[in-house]
Amino acid sequence: MKALVYNGPRDVSVNEVPDATIERATDVLVKISSTNICGSDLHMYEGRTGMQAGRILGHENMGEVIEIGAAVDRVKVGDRVCLPFNIGCGFCANCEKGLSGFCLTCNPGMAGAAYGFAGMGPYSGGQAEYLRVPYGDYNCLILPRGSEEKENDYVMLSDIFPTGYHATELAGVQPGETVVIYGAGPVGLMAAYSAIIRGAALVMVVDNHKDRLALAAKIGAVPVDDTEGMGIEQVMQLTGGVGADRGCECVGYQCCNMHREEVPNLTMNNLVATVKATGRIGVVGVFIPEDPGSKDTLQKRGQMAFDFGQFWVKGQSIGTGQANVKAYNRFLSRLIEKDKVKPSWIVSHELPLEKAPDAYKNFDARKDGWTKVVLKPGKK
Ligand SMILES: NC(=O)c1ccc[n+]([C@@H]2O[C@H](COP(=O)([O-])OP(=O)(O)OC[C@H]3O[C@@H](n4cnc5c(N)ncnc54)[C@H](O)[C@@H]3O)[C@@H](O)[C@H]2O)c1
Ligand SMILES: [Zn+2]
Ligand SMILES: [Zn+2]
Repeated sequence: MKALVYNGPRDVSVNEVPDATIERATDVLVKISSTNICGSDLHMYEGRTGMQAGRILGHENMGEVIEIGAAVDRVKVGDRVCLPFNIGCGFCANCEKGLSGFCLTCNPGMAGAAYGFAGMGPYSGGQAEYLRVPYGDYNCLILPRGSEEKENDYVMLSDIFPTGYHATELAGVQPGETVVIYGAGPVGLMAAYSAIIRGAALVMVVDNHKDRLALAAKIGAVPVDDTEGMGIEQVMQLTGGVGADRGCECVGYQCCNMHREEVPNLTMNNLVATVKATGRIGVVGVFIPEDPGSKDTLQKRGQMAFDFGQFWVKGQSIGTGQANVKAYNRFLSRLIEKDKVKPSWIVSHELPLEKAPDAYKNFDARKDGWTKVVLKPGKK
């Protein structure tokens, strides 16, 4: 089969590789119809993780079930399914509680597994023609009839829509509240969308990419252009000097200052500054335990100079981590089915798998207009 292979920093190619197959009785084999490129792929693409050369990338996957293992009961051949980026077993202490991003079975010694992801188990990604899905009965979200027409909406349930929602859940967003979101990438935009769905009164999105801020404005959020480094002042002004009720971090450890230089503690300290006293912060942007490629001495060890004194004085609280996609994908899917939401507004490019290397290059450069790429294996 054809698959997008990571060769090394900023070097990916579409290669002929051995077909994905059923390896265990609980597996499901999916023919991929849509698979997105994610900001998380970029940390790997840029060589800023321990990703091994030769592995297949891609964790935002959906497609059609073409084969099931002997122990699969619920999922049937022919079902169209969306796969959470997390791989869970369904029976460990964390999966039982709905914490599917922290499965204790699928990546022994760690909590949490994913497709095509550094440090999250040996599983191949889905930027390929076929994907092996472990514990298929647990991990497949079976899509309703007519899902073909909303393919680009449903594929967002694999990661960024539930992840954006998770940011607002971690932050505890309630109706009528004010929310500040750092990052207008796909995840930040989906967090803004989720905050609006949850009834927030004012949603502010901070970034310095004008095309992405324009998308935030389009869904009714207030764009905060940080090009001049004045984001904090603008948020404080918009909130009458008190700061937002809730804050979301949707950038991660490669966040940058106005000169596009990496400053790993910038968004976290900006959140402490712009969330009100007693406010809550949800962090879904990725931070990692070791980052040898960073120029920052603390960041090399996965540490940062965090404004803890200010955080403590303000009585703030914080929630972090990978999104437990299974905690949200079923109800968000129903909102898509009933035409209440349409997350495909985020898609800027729909491309065949063969175009993936070029798409990585453009998305990595945050080139104007490259917001979200959906790859379509099998299409020319
Ligand atoms: N927790 C999870 O489950 C989960 C899931 C998916 C993605 N992620 C992570 O979420 C983060 C965002 O993903 P994405 O796909 O939106 O990526 P992206 O890289 O496309 O978007 C990041 C955005 O942040 C902006 N930014 C950089 N520095 C900033 C700053 N100081 N202030 C405000 N904005 C700043 C960039 O301009 C960019 O638009 C990544 O770290 C990704 O790995 C986490
Ligand atoms: Zn992703
Ligand atoms: Zn588990």
